[in-house]
Amino acid sequence: MKKKVCITNQIPEIGIRLLKEKYHVEICQKGAVDETFLSQIRNCDAIVSLLSDKIDENIFSVAPKLKIVANYAVGYNNIDLNAAKKYKIMVTNTPGVLTHATAEIAFALMISLTRRIIEADKLTRAGHFTGWEPMLLLGDELNGKTMGIVGMGRIGQSMAIKCRAFGMNIIYHNRTPLDENTEKALEAAYCSFDELLQQSDVISLHTPSTRETFHLINEAAFKKMKTGVYLINTSRGEVIDEAALVSALRSGKVKGAGLDVYEFEPEITHELFSMENVILLPHIGSATTEARNKMSEMVARNVIAALEGKNPENLVPE
Ligand code: DGY
Repeated sequence: MKKKVCITNQIPEIGIRLLKEKYHVEICQKGAVDETFLSQIRNCDAIVSLLSDKIDENIFSVAPKLKIVANYAVGYNNIDLNAAKKYKIMVTNTPGVLTHATAEIAFALMISLTRRIIEADKLTRAGHFTGWEPMLLLGDELNGKTMGIVGMGRIGQSMAIKCRAFGMNIIYHNRTPLDENTEKALEAAYCSFDELLQQSDVISLHTPSTRETFHLINEAAFKKMKTGVYLINTSRGEVIDEAALVSALRSGKVKGAGLDVYEFEPEITHELFSMENVILLPHIGSATTEARNKMSEMVARNVIAALEGKNPENLVPE
């Protein structure tokens, strides 16, 4: 009998095709852990999950044949790794293939905020463009400003390259500094977290969601920032204390925020909706055809490796 793979939502065809060559594939539409979903995964050998699926003991305990959870994301904070280890279930992610897509969206948020692109579009569409005006929608130039990158992995580095090309000075904070050659190539300088908060004109977050990064950007952190700083988050919502962000935006400490992710995703702190200096995106960091096709292929290859008794390429660190 063919092995069974459950995918919790429709993903690009490329990965599904690869899986269908070998296995019985079902789109399980998770959403919630209800009886229908649990009965679908009871006899499955692999699950392809999304970052919005909470995958934990509730799932592992009812799926005795389950060998692998292949997360269709680079982040994997939605999966209980301790429980996966207990049930000897492999967990994989999709690193490397959404680097540019995510850095591009971070960059887009930054430049849209600093040059007030969304406000300008709204004004024009509303018929309020009545001719060139010297004081209309003045923004801030990026050239010569300091970009502070928190989390200098692949996506942070890709963001650094883009910002350098726009004449920004790059400082960064990371658990461990980059090696000297990489720092030199990126023209980026390591600094402490506090220094980064104090010196940056724009701060862009590229950290995973962990116990250590939960509310890393909180009231105390906002206090240390320059007045008029811009804040960009394309990593995970929990890194920012959203209530503290609302206060910092209200007081003018933060001049603008560009968010692709939210603390209580998909819920969004309602005060943010009415703020002109905030851009809200629906978690589309990796939403390019290129990235999503590669992610689809990658999850399929990880599943195939695991079900053939090999080590998948993208096992997450325990
Ligand atoms: C991921 O893959 O973790 C990203 O957040 C998707 O946009």
